[in-house]
Amino acid sequence: MTDGNVSVPSERDENSEPGGNSEPGGNSEPGGNGEHGGNGERGGNSERGGNLVEVRDLKVHFPISRGVIFDRVVGHVKAVDGVDLSIPRGKTYGLVGESGCGKSTLGRALLQLTPPTSGQVTFDGVELTTLPPNKMRSMRRRMQMIFQDPMSSLDPRQNVESILVEGLQAHGIGADRNARREIITKTLDAVGLPKWALSRYPHEFSGGQRQRIGIARALVLGPDLIVADEPVSALDVSIQAQVVNLLDELQAELGLTYLVIAHDLAVVRHISDTIGVMYLGALVEEAPGDRLYRAPLHPYTRALMSAVPVPDPEVEDRRERILLAGDLPSPANPPTGCRFHTRCPWAQPTRCADERPVLRQIGDSRVACHFAEPIASGELRPHKVTAQLTRPEDEGETPGVVSAPSEPGSFV
Ligand SMILES: Nc1ncnc2c1ncn2[C@@H]1O[C@H](COP(=O)(O)OP(=O)(O)OP(=O)(O)O)[C@@H](O)[C@H]1O
Ligand code: SF4
Ligand SMILES: [Mg+2]
Repeated sequence: MTDGNVSVPSERDENSEPGGNSEPGGNSEPGGNGEHGGNGERGGNSERGGNLVEVRDLKVHFPISRGVIFDRVVGHVKAVDGVDLSIPRGKTYGLVGESGCGKSTLGRALLQLTPPTSGQVTFDGVELTTLPPNKMRSMRRRMQMIFQDPMSSLDPRQNVESILVEGLQAHGIGADRNARREIITKTLDAVGLPKWALSRYPHEFSGGQRQRIGIARALVLGPDLIVADEPVSALDVSIQAQVVNLLDELQAELGLTYLVIAHDLAVVRHISDTIGVMYLGALVEEAPGDRLYRAPLHPYTRALMSAVPVPDPEVEDRRERILLAGDLPSPANPPTGCRFHTRCPWAQPTRCADERPVLRQIGDSRVACHFAEPIASGELRPHKVTAQLTRPEDEGETPGVVSAPSEPGSFV
């Protein structure tokens, strides 16, 4: 965690530098280079309010090809299958869900690193899915990513300065070497790394410090949006809080907007304004962070929450525990109706297997469950679920799940 004042490597700071080697008003200003009406000004964006990101009915379907001589498409992995979400400027959206539910694909599609199959992604009012490549390139400066494994995402042959300068050069930021070094030094300071780090290589740093380099690499370009994909899951628990706090401080200082992807509910809880829970390519619940933890409405969210330990031993003894039956079904052949019905302890004989629930507003949450209200009131009681095994080899055929009574799931 940074101690004391966080130095802000923003365009505003750059521009306000008196004299120095930078050329005021020159082409070195990232905002000035932006091709979207000067929207590159981060301060201006965060002051304007509203949603920075809007995702509508986003789908990413990866083709599954088979064939000895000629490949033929035999099905699709529906990694993201109809996601709607909005992220207000300066806020954090936490995205959680089981491994393979499509979190990273959604994050990458949002940044157009993976091309969406269909749907819209609007960033600061600009529709990205139809943006010509040259305009998308300049937009990229404003949307950066922090990766899970800082070691594999940093080139071990490059020192920190050359890792950080790459993006500046690519986007024409900084009038000359000295100006770029100044931006980099400020950025290192902002993430709590000393100036001497400039000449060091990734292997010379601890895991937490490497992740700070990863954050600096995203930050150095003065982005508005950062997609952090499992930013702390490769770090020791003792270091995780420091990195989460750093992200929090940087957001407060710079007005950044975050999409934070995590397995660990504890990570997103403390940093998120809104949390979205994903299951098999779609959101099943979205709610303000506290609301989600206090009173989850979707059965899947209840199951996730029930796995989070509570520090109070008395509460821990009393709390609801839901053990989900079976694995996540194959996204190549998801269950019909509600995708969670094969594992849901509240699944009903009507609707659940044949009607896909839409994400609908209930209070301040959005929930995709036909029976959310009677489940919340206790009118519907949970029942035992028999685990269903997925058969990925059935891709494209039905059914995609088979009963496996020898592996019973349970609701305790
Ligand atoms: N390039 C690809 N081609 C084909 N399938 C893919 C590709 N990328 C991801 N998938 C599949 O899409 C599904 C979602 O993957 P994704 O990596 O988005 O999940 P995730 O929620 O991020 O998982 P994890 O928590 O393990 O990182 C998985 O079934 C995965 O195998
Ligand atoms: S719609 Fe049915 S199967 Fe789906 S979460 Fe609600 S109760 Fe469970
Ligand atoms: Mg992932």
